[in-house]
Amino acid sequence: MRKTCRISGDKLIQFLDLGKQPLGNGFLISKKKIVREYFYKLKVGFSKKSNMVQIFNAPKKEKMFNKNYAFYSSTSSYMDDHFKKFSNQIKRFLKSKNIKNPLIVEIGSNDGIMLKRFKKFNHLGIEPSRNVAKVSKKKFSCNVLIEFFSKKTLNKIHRKFKKKVDVYYSTNVLGHIEDIKAVFNNISNSLSNRGILIFEDPYLGQIIKKNSYDQIYDEHIYFFSLISVSKLAEIYNLEIFDASPQTTHGGSMRYYLCKKNTYSKTKRLKQLLKNEKKLKLDELSTFKLFSKRVESSRNKLISLLNKLKKQKKIVYAYGATAKSTTIFNFCKIKDDLIKYYFDNTKIKQNKYSPGMHIKVNSFQKLKKYPDYYFLSAWNHKKEIFKKEKKFIKNGGKWITHVPTVKII
Ligand code: TYD
Repeated sequence: MRKTCRISGDKLIQFLDLGKQPLGNGFLISKKKIVREYFYKLKVGFSKKSNMVQIFNAPKKEKMFNKNYAFYSSTSSYMDDHFKKFSNQIKRFLKSKNIKNPLIVEIGSNDGIMLKRFKKFNHLGIEPSRNVAKVSKKKFSCNVLIEFFSKKTLNKIHRKFKKKVDVYYSTNVLGHIEDIKAVFNNISNSLSNRGILIFEDPYLGQIIKKNSYDQIYDEHIYFFSLISVSKLAEIYNLEIFDASPQTTHGGSMRYYLCKKNTYSKTKRLKQLLKNEKKLKLDELSTFKLFSKRVESSRNKLISLLNKLKKQKKIVYAYGATAKSTTIFNFCKIKDDLIKYYFDNTKIKQNKYSPGMHIKVNSFQKLKKYPDYYFLSAWNHKKEIFKKEKKFIKNGGKWITHVPTVKII
């Protein structure tokens, strides 16, 4: 197991142990495959020097992002709208700064859900998962390189466009990349003087506030805060000049970076930094307390589900999320406690959940409402509650674990 922080090289201090875990998105096609399932130890640490929260063991990137990657961004209409607004914001920024003929590069362009909005610009997506990258090429005719973002990629960008990059953007990707230093170095070396890097990822402050430990799984190596991102950026002569909280993925932060002393820091950023200091995201004690709350969340959830089992209540899980892989494996929740998952994603249906092997059904197979749904896709609560009015009207109840285990 690693002992040091990937950024500063100083000691990585463990504060949370989530036990033996399978890949968060590693849904299994058949019982046969179950025999060869991959597991790793999921432990989380904090570095006093870089202030970066990170997992100790990250499975090899090729294991996670390959031709079978199960996450298609475009399946959510809410996310489509989110990316529409985000892309408009980038376009407005370019206009306001009078940056002509810009080059826009997306790191981790998935199926093109956002990149398609830059088709009229010099654009390029970098996406290592072949299946999703193919969708962006075929369906939206986007320029995409099917590879991991690396120094070699920079040469290709230079050969193709003969200019520096004006906007790098990335959503829910940078936190997945183990060699984040190389990414920042490569970005810094290829960014135009007035260029920006904008990225968003689940925000550490929200994870602490919501006790959403299920954000922790193999794909999420780093859990960013403004403090840790600032320290990382500084190494590569970059700095944060703005930030804005996002509701996506259970509470994210969008970070705006530029070369040092290019744009002045916004008021909004200063306020967010103050909030972060209050939350003490730069102190180990914060994470030790978080770990205690996670243990107590596990105990409460197990005892609630056992109580419902004794009462012969039917409990299903709503949304076969990667996040719930962490919960169910940490709490050892199998199909005696939660009989099935229900999920509207075709490629997850009729498969078995990673580790605990709970069957995933399509909603078409739902003959009778359960007594309770465990809200595994809690980050889509609004959308789901709107959709499930009938279940609620019929007396159906929800079980959630954020911010504490309760029935709603
Ligand atoms: P997602 O938000 O991507 O979480 P994670 O990153 O932890 O996997 O997953 C949401 C899942 O919930 C996805 O598989 C689709 C499913 N879902 C439904 O089945 N019905 C719905 O109405 C919504 C909003 C999501």
